[in-house]
Amino acid sequence: MKTATLTLDPAFRVGPVHPRVFGSFVEHMGRCVYTGIYEPGHPSADADGLREDVLALTREMGVSVVRYPGGNFVSGYRWEDGVGPVEDRPARLDLAWQSLETNAFGLHEFMTWADRANVEPMMAVNLGTRGVQEAVDLLEYTNHPGGTALSDRRAANGRREPYGIGLWCLGNEMDGPWQIGHKTAEEYGRLAQETGKAMKFVDPSIELVACGSSNAHMPTFGSWEATVLSHCYDEADYISLHAYYGQDGDLASFLASAVDMDAFIEGVVATADHVRAKLGKTKRIRLSFDEWNVWYTDDFAGGTWEQAPRMSEDLFNVADAVVVGSLLISLLKHADRVGVACQAQLANLLAPIRTEPGGPAWRQTIFHPFAHAAAYAKGDALRVVLDAPRQETAKYGDVPLVDAVATQDEEGVTVFAVNRDTEGPIGLTLDLRAFPGVTGAERIVLADEDRTAANTAAEPERVTPRRAELPVRPGEPLLVELPPVSWNVIRLSV
Ligand code: AHR
Repeated sequence: MKTATLTLDPAFRVGPVHPRVFGSFVEHMGRCVYTGIYEPGHPSADADGLREDVLALTREMGVSVVRYPGGNFVSGYRWEDGVGPVEDRPARLDLAWQSLETNAFGLHEFMTWADRANVEPMMAVNLGTRGVQEAVDLLEYTNHPGGTALSDRRAANGRREPYGIGLWCLGNEMDGPWQIGHKTAEEYGRLAQETGKAMKFVDPSIELVACGSSNAHMPTFGSWEATVLSHCYDEADYISLHAYYGQDGDLASFLASAVDMDAFIEGVVATADHVRAKLGKTKRIRLSFDEWNVWYTDDFAGGTWEQAPRMSEDLFNVADAVVVGSLLISLLKHADRVGVACQAQLANLLAPIRTEPGGPAWRQTIFHPFAHAAAYAKGDALRVVLDAPRQETAKYGDVPLVDAVATQDEEGVTVFAVNRDTEGPIGLTLDLRAFPGVTGAERIVLADEDRTAANTAAEPERVTPRRAELPVRPGEPLLVELPPVSWNVIRLSV
């Protein structure tokens, strides 16, 4: 059996894990909203039409923050369409996904859902077809206490107390030619600056996310971030990153996708810090990785103008869960700079939670690593020193077969590790000399002989994690066997 060693030390501290890194994303796209989180008439729906089965799974997953309402959708969205009596709301063409938007679900419905899901809202403003005025109008509507036309309209629509939304996205993927209202870096940087400035006049307590590149392989990657931040460095608190990883038959490269995420994060940090130095600023821009996931079905047909069509309802398998786990490891390894991250999306499309209209809701394989990280990655992130066998991959060159990170809180230390080897198990030795007080250990593993195994409506528990106690001898290293293509959580009580 191949072997690896992992050395832990409390001194290898990266930084505190921000709970907002366990975020998700609800977009008006496909069936994420309609028949996903919202389905009046469903047996589990509450009086507001919110599916209680999906709410329960969202809470179980430990989602902390949810970005809304898009995505590409937001770049053509009029937020006013989604407030007020439902019968008066207009049906519109959603140009981004070429679907019919009834606006039955809007701002108040989302805020009620967020409250019941126990998540913080992260609201995006439309900087595609709209600008400064509509963004400040929305903020006044949500956050101003009262006595103005817009805040009083909120009260008239049933919500007297301000919502106090604290985290805002200045548009979405504005570098992408597919985006409605696509802009150059200069155009967007200026608009983000002016919108951010005016929004902070309305409510100085808010935090703002400026759009970075749509992915690290955009031709303008790097220069986009530098130009945008050179305009809105004072207004922005975060710069966004988006990345999706797909399976194309090369499993070894797919399993190593986090190598790309590591490089992407480090590239954006370097660029943001370059602007910081150039402008002579002291503040550091943090990263909002507000769209990340595995994604490999691009079945967007377009032009059907259907309401809530089935779109990108990927069936995720064991290998996908291991990649999601490794992407979570990458986010945690960069806890000093990544302050927000949202897995895209929450329900049905590219999603950990699947539903059928009028039918059940269930956990896809990728639900599990997210839920483990959200539950156990608390306190400080610790860098680990790994000595692992390596292999050559077509996409990312020479990569280690094991990747890992640890976190430490008052209950103990948790190690999160993936084995990317498709051939066999790897015997991992945990060097615990720096933690002589380890009294017990539990391990959770997600693996399966069939890496294509997945959970379906008919077999919703086909892939589930297994838990076991590990024998611990004080002062001695801990030996753990990582099955091939596996996600592992090792919880040490200290
Ligand atoms: O998450 C799906 C889509 O992917 C989003 O709308 C867009 O921002 C990204 O390109």
